[in-house]
Amino acid sequence: MTEEETPEPRDLTREAAEAALEEVAAEVRVCPKCELARTRTHAVPGEGHPKAKVMLIGEGPGWHEDRQGRPFIGNAGKFLDELLAKAGLTRADVFITNVVKCRPPGNRDPMPDEIAACAPYLERQIAAIDPEVIVTLGRFSMARWFPGERISRIHGQPKRDGARLIVPMYHPAAALHQGNLRGAIEDDFAKLPKILAEAERDRETAAARDEPGANQMTLF
Ligand code: URA
Ligand code: SF4
Repeated sequence: MTEEETPEPRDLTREAAEAALEEVAAEVRVCPKCELARTRTHAVPGEGHPKAKVMLIGEGPGWHEDRQGRPFIGNAGKFLDELLAKAGLTRADVFITNVVKCRPPGNRDPMPDEIAACAPYLERQIAAIDPEVIVTLGRFSMARWFPGERISRIHGQPKRDGARLIVPMYHPAAALHQGNLRGAIEDDFAKLPKILAEAERDRETAAARDEPGANQMTLF
């Protein structure tokens, strides 16, 4: 088989990524795989640029999100828009989703079996988008890359995961009304452009290394 027939996820064109994301969204909207399916109004698959360089992963839909089927549209969402602006980004530039796609009743924490049931959707979204940078918002998305870590210790510090950087940040809903956390999350978002530039440099270096002929060049 040629490479064209079996593209790696990172090689997906915008159209292919869009199609893969729409397939995930269609499955999520009718998903019966955990208890949260029984109490949701609308599942919230996530939305944004299909080839976003920055992907943000929250916890789970709240009341407003459940009503409209869209992520981060309540107060935390408005604050998130301000934070994105601090990084020179808009919603159209990024992809936003959550660890669980359906609202936990009363906004309780998602349970381990719910997170596990929903994880394959998130993994497929990450594979399709292949973002340079993933920002985790709050402890449930943080736990996927930083098990056992404490947000107060590691927020804003990127960690490499293969070809991308993962940046743990406070959850905007938690940071919004707590002065010290608010300052911290604002500072962390302000660092995003630098972190993204670093991630992009890494990819360019890796691409140059993998280019046919690159190895021969080093012989001279
Ligand atoms: N909080 C989240 O974690 N996700 C949303 O989509 C909205 C609020
Ligand atoms: Fe399915 Fe995820 Fe919704 Fe559970 S939370 S029903 S696994 S989409």
